Amino acid sequence: MLGWVRSVRTQKEITFFHVNDGSSLQSLQIVADPHLGSRDITFGSAVEVWGKLVPSPHQKQNVELQANKITLVGSCNPVSFPFKIKDRHSLEYLRQFPHLRCKTNVFSSLLRLRSEATAAINSFFKNNGFIHIHTPIITSNDCEGGGELFQVEVNKNQDNPHFFNVPSFLTVSGQLHLEVMAGAFTQVYTFGPTFRAENSQTRRHLAEFYMVEAELAFTESLEDIMKVMENLFKSATSHILSECPEDVELFHKYLAPEQKVCSWFNILNHVNLIFRLSYTEAIDILQDSTKTFTFKPQWGCDLQTEHEKYLVQHCGNIPVFVINYPYDIKPFYARDNQDGPQHTVSAVDLLVPGIGELCGGSLREERLDLLQSRLKQHGFKDSYQWYEELRQFGSVPHGGFGMGFERYLQCVLGVENIKDVIPFPRFSHSCLL
Ligand code: 4AD
Ligand code: MG
Repeated sequence: MLGWVRSVRTQKEITFFHVNDGSSLQSLQIVADPHLGSRDITFGSAVEVWGKLVPSPHQKQNVELQANKITLVGSCNPVSFPFKIKDRHSLEYLRQFPHLRCKTNVFSSLLRLRSEATAAINSFFKNNGFIHIHTPIITSNDCEGGGELFQVEVNKNQDNPHFFNVPSFLTVSGQLHLEVMAGAFTQVYTFGPTFRAENSQTRRHLAEFYMVEAELAFTESLEDIMKVMENLFKSATSHILSECPEDVELFHKYLAPEQKVCSWFNILNHVNLIFRLSYTEAIDILQDSTKTFTFKPQWGCDLQTEHEKYLVQHCGNIPVFVINYPYDIKPFYARDNQDGPQHTVSAVDLLVPGIGELCGGSLREERLDLLQSRLKQHGFKDSYQWYEELRQFGSVPHGGFGMGFERYLQCVLGVENIKDVIPFPRFSHSCLL
């Protein structure tokens, strides 16, 4: 057995220790004679143990290893090691050690769950006929138009900091590239890192996060988009609950009840009943509420986290779709509903308990004249010629959405801070490691 020591109990004649190799939560109990050198074994050290597997008298494990040879591969100084065997360290404490926290049970469970959720999401799309597209990380467009871009520059050639012939940025969304591909493959998705230079220090924003994005051609209805969001959520969640029950259970035991931002089984039970509200209805609900909001809810303003959370509560603490947002607050690509006087676009956000916005999507404006005037309004006319051309060569009605993968994990596992569901969090003023 090769692995790292998770616990040690030394008696006069015998030493018991547990070794874990990270493949699962299960550690193997080793029973050793102290003369074999097991006295040098400390919590956190790396070991190689040879021996005989025998049935274990303990209920929690089927077998244990009776050691006949122990090699200390890498020692671990118990005084300076930041984790102590008996202590229950908080996620906040573990966050100070991004290079070591994967050695704890709780964080390794979390990363295994993250890996399993990644596999579940890829399976969902494969099983539903979507083609996986690797959209670029470096791009010349600002899909969301929010200006939250990290610019890519070259260090060496000071004369021409732009390695590419145009200013280039780290992608904020693969959507526009997916729209290209949906025009040939009908159903496509991407799942990769996205970057936002947001100067916000909240428990649901990162500067680098993973986004799952899907795009569907030949759709004229937001319902089709919502159906995929809903099925994706359900399928990935039931997969991790059934494939990783031990990791899920450890996680839920570890978190104090007040830390659990929502409960996954509650969400799963209700996911068939996702509530639908129009943005206008949502504003009415907020304005009728007796709650005092920091930002006063007003038609035409974007919903703030506090509003999103209130709406979720108001609907019985279950996920809620909010549709048809004001024209003026959504990006240029959102399809105009041509209604009025409260002018809206076919956009949808999925709001979930404890988090607020989990997914954002829309139908895309496929009508060239409307798209052109919208691009002009935003001052983007020339840079999106290729995007306009998509509307000229076999264009079809289409739409899609993006789901923040870390927010999904937060929601399903009940983790309060987004920095605790990603191996190496990047956020404003912090890029440890
Ligand atoms: O709502 P957003 O900005 O939508 C888009 O980027 C669309 N172009 C997606 C599409 O239609 N293909 O982002 C989508 C989701 C949000 O709902 C949120 O869950 C997550 O990405 N997200 C973030 N997650 C962590 N940190 C941030 N700074 C995030 N910004 C967005
Ligand atoms: Mg959004």
